[in-house]
Amino acid sequence: MRFQQMSSGMGLAALAAGLVISGCNGTPMKGESMAAKPLDGEVRVPPGYRDWPRFVGTVDKAPAGQVREIYINTEGMRARKGEAFPAGTIAVMEIYGARKGPGDTLMTDASGRLLKGPLSKVFVMEKGTGWGAAQPPGTLDNGDWVYGAWEADGRTAAKVDFKACRACHAPLATSDYIARYDEHFDQR
Ligand code: HEC
Repeated sequence: MRFQQMSSGMGLAALAAGLVISGCNGTPMKGESMAAKPLDGEVRVPPGYRDWPRFVGTVDKAPAGQVREIYINTEGMRARKGEAFPAGTIAVMEIYGARKGPGDTLMTDASGRLLKGPLSKVFVMEKGTGWGAAQPPGTLDNGDWVYGAWEADGRTAAKVDFKACRACHAPLATSDYIARYDEHFDQR
């Protein structure tokens, strides 16, 4: 009898744990999205980002053999030069392989620009109120930005070291951790 009581108690505990877990990982319910504070790897590729404003012009990265396209959502467009981007800002960077010709040389068009090959990865930076403080202890400070990295399908998590994202963007604190900050505002 005692064992039975215990096991039914355990069953309830397991059920409760299951509810808690699904409550944490499930799609946020309406109005809940601001409360959910994602960790690195959890910010997703936002739907429709290709219709967003370009953050800067196409970036040719010849040494890396890549071409990059960067987008920013309308929330981010509210920032003025000299300001940090507001909570709700999302920046998306597509990384394409640059096309190669004979002898593995990078191909260029008539104006010397690299030619885009296939999409390889989609990187995301998104910020929300209190997201920086919600990262695990020891996380390198990048303000309230959180990072995501995805394969070309936009759904499969890319195997990246998010510490490297933070390490390279951390010195950019005076431009809100955004590498192309000055270029963006100079082009607006
Ligand atoms: C070696 C340094 C370095 C590392 C590591 C790095 N970035 Fe960046 N990131 C840059 C630079 C530089 C740019 C500007 C675009 C360019 O020149 O390629 C950039 C741009 C971006 C942008 C567009 C907004 C901006 O800052 O201009 C996003 C989004 C981004 N990176 C996400 C990531 C993610 C996610 C990771 C980790 C998976 C990552 N970065 C790792 C250097 C780095």
